Amino acid sequence: MSIYPPLAVRITTPEVELLGATDELLERLAPHVRDGKADDDPPPYDDPFWAYEPDPERRVHRWLQGIWRGRGRTGPENWRLHLVVMVDGEPVGMQDLIGHDFTTFATVESFSWLSSDVRRRGIGSEMRAAILHLAFDGLDAEEAGSEANADNAGSNGISQRLGYEPNGTAWATCRGEPVLGRRWRLLRSVWAANRRDDISLSGVPECRVALGLDP
Ligand SMILES: CC(C)(COP(=O)(O)OP(=O)(O)OC[C@H]1O[C@@H](n2cnc3c(N)ncnc32)[C@H](O)[C@@H]1OP(=O)(O)O)[C@@H](O)C(=O)NCCC(=O)NCCS
Repeated sequence: MSIYPPLAVRITTPEVELLGATDELLERLAPHVRDGKADDDPPPYDDPFWAYEPDPERRVHRWLQGIWRGRGRTGPENWRLHLVVMVDGEPVGMQDLIGHDFTTFATVESFSWLSSDVRRRGIGSEMRAAILHLAFDGLDAEEAGSEANADNAGSNGISQRLGYEPNGTAWATCRGEPVLGRRWRLLRSVWAANRRDDISLSGVPECRVALGLDP
């Protein structure tokens, strides 16, 4: 039981567990950030981003500050749920869910990274499926969006695999270089047609109140 409901959210699939990012879990995940295992080649993140900070300790500090800011800003207009990805009881990455004017648009975005130690084993797909379950089943979203650089095979591969449809392109800079991003959208009807029955949610009613979705 947490006094702050977004930290008590839990999503369980047969392969992974996503847990509200408590400071205790962040401390256990920090070595992956310190060792540069959240980054990738080619660089996957829009500027500015904490993973590009060269000094390991400062990188960890910037990463933590971003999460704490996200926690503190949570409210009906904007929210970001930060969840730690657990595999066999060990933290290996993060999967976030983001809502802007969610009560008006019922649309979410997601963001994730996984330690380079455990990529290409299907975990990225499983954690996205888990967060989509929270969005559509737990929070009644109508649409989920995603965006990734055109050369980000992992993120774009996951969107394609999970039934998202292409939704245009957008320019951004990555480490100072212009990069074209691919945008994706997944409609509730498509998610519902492929809905999984082996994913369970916990802590959602209290979190809905904290996000301003329920009185
Ligand atoms: C994106 C990320 C979470 C994907 O996690 P993952 O566990 O490696 O992904 P999966 O194993 O589920 O792979 C999903 C699909 O992408 C493909 N894929 C993943 N990485 C790939 C790569 N480097 N090259 C080619 N294909 C790749 C997989 O083969 C799979 O395709 P399939 O469905 O046809 O089998 C991980 O690569 C990562 O953390 N990258 C750095 C951070 C990042 O890019 N975040 C997104 C920013 S927008």
